[in-house]
Amino acid sequence: MFDDFVEQHKKLSTLIPAAVMEFVSTLDARRVAPEASVDELVQMFDEPFPEEGMPIEHIIERFRKQVAPNAMGVPSPRYFGQFNPTPLPIGVWADTLTSMLNQNAGAWRNGPTSATIEARVLRWLCDLLGYGPNSYGTLASGGSEANLIALKCARDAAHREIKNVGVRAVAADLTIYASEQCHYSIEKSADILGMGRDLVRKIPTDSQFHIELDALRDAIASDRAAGKIPCCIVGVAGATSTGVLDSLPELAAIARENNCWYHVDAAYAGALAFSDKHKSKLNGIELADSITIDPHKWMFVPFACGATLVRDGKLVLRDAFDITVEYLAEDRGGADVEFDFFRYGQMGTRRFNSLKLWMAMKFMGRKGYAETVERQIELTKHLAERIDQLDEFERVSPVETAVCCFRFAPKALGGMNDTELDALQGQVQQVIERSGEAWLTTTVLHGRRAFRVNVNSFLTEKRHIDDLVELLRRSAAKFV
Ligand SMILES: Cc1ncc(COP(=O)(O)O)c(C=O)c1O
Repeated sequence: MFDDFVEQHKKLSTLIPAAVMEFVSTLDARRVAPEASVDELVQMFDEPFPEEGMPIEHIIERFRKQVAPNAMGVPSPRYFGQFNPTPLPIGVWADTLTSMLNQNAGAWRNGPTSATIEARVLRWLCDLLGYGPNSYGTLASGGSEANLIALKCARDAAHREIKNVGVRAVAADLTIYASEQCHYSIEKSADILGMGRDLVRKIPTDSQFHIELDALRDAIASDRAAGKIPCCIVGVAGATSTGVLDSLPELAAIARENNCWYHVDAAYAGALAFSDKHKSKLNGIELADSITIDPHKWMFVPFACGATLVRDGKLVLRDAFDITVEYLAEDRGGADVEFDFFRYGQMGTRRFNSLKLWMAMKFMGRKGYAETVERQIELTKHLAERIDQLDEFERVSPVETAVCCFRFAPKALGGMNDTELDALQGQVQQVIERSGEAWLTTTVLHGRRAFRVNVNSFLTEKRHIDDLVELLRRSAAKFV
């Protein structure tokens, strides 16, 4: 079966690039959301595990005919969904090289170049966000894992023994503070770390969805008065629903006053740091004890690629995660240990994920990222202007990044109650989804459902935004 190992590669190296070319050269003409229902897809792939292996051509044909056409059109210029980008071509093909080398990036000896390159891209990211020489980090599977790693550091900072004996090392509840707009991974992390979801204090936001600082101060004071230990404040830089950024320097000051760990979740908007025009929105991020940034969001690296950066990471991450493993402990004089990433996070066997990030950052350069981020913010402002001109729509969030939220609220439907109007947003979204012409989501902001558009494809042009506005109008008009 493997006598033809090289021949198999040769065959695949024509079949797979052809399948990629077929897909990427027709991206704009393809439906965004596929038509197939859940049942249809289950039936399509309802097949027994084959007794005999199948020819490569047959398998790739199934990909071309069934997998790709029924995939979500995430790389499309008309995909306006979550923070999911069109992947950079160099990132797509870097993934093949990563798989070919199959380095285990957990320990330096199992992936010497992968470890060295991971340390390099982490240095670039730390420098970009204003961290000093003691900073270090680790690549993660995405923002959720990056937040978990950061909150583990926050928890451990509360008491030396927590990592050994658990949260009972402190005789009181440890509390976490984040805006009600924070990502759900904060609560999940609190649960996984034994702190408990109920001890994440969701702080209200102002009319523009920024954390309310007075409400935060009050929450900390009342927890302290009740005998709890305020442990961590999370600032959001690029909220999932609205893309807005909390007041980062003020949060840093509150964290310092209260002896709390300060984490900034910049999974999405960390990329503003590339742009001289927009980077001031991140002022104060360098004061954070830890930062999450996701190259698989606004840096256009294919999934999965997140990062946790820690201001004093060389010590703190190591302290939080290092463990002695006899079969990974051959003595090489110690220089390799700094690159043993199993010591800096929870993953053991790890993919050579830094390759696609390194190639993407070298291909784009700071300027390439800056221009792209700036262009996408301009396109989002254009969308906001178009929405503001329409009587039947109302904008509900500011444009601080490349996200815009708005509602369909025509005067002709003045008789509808809030519940009916909220349901209507979802119905219009479904019409758009079924049309296949574009894809966007809805979210709930201060209790009311609204459309959420993120311009996250570097292929999106002004005409795609104008088409989206017309599609929204046409789809919504069906309900008036
Ligand atoms: C602000 C923020 N943090 C964290 C995450 C989690 O990232 P991931 O889905 O890569 O785990 C997201 C995802 O959208 C996010 O918007």
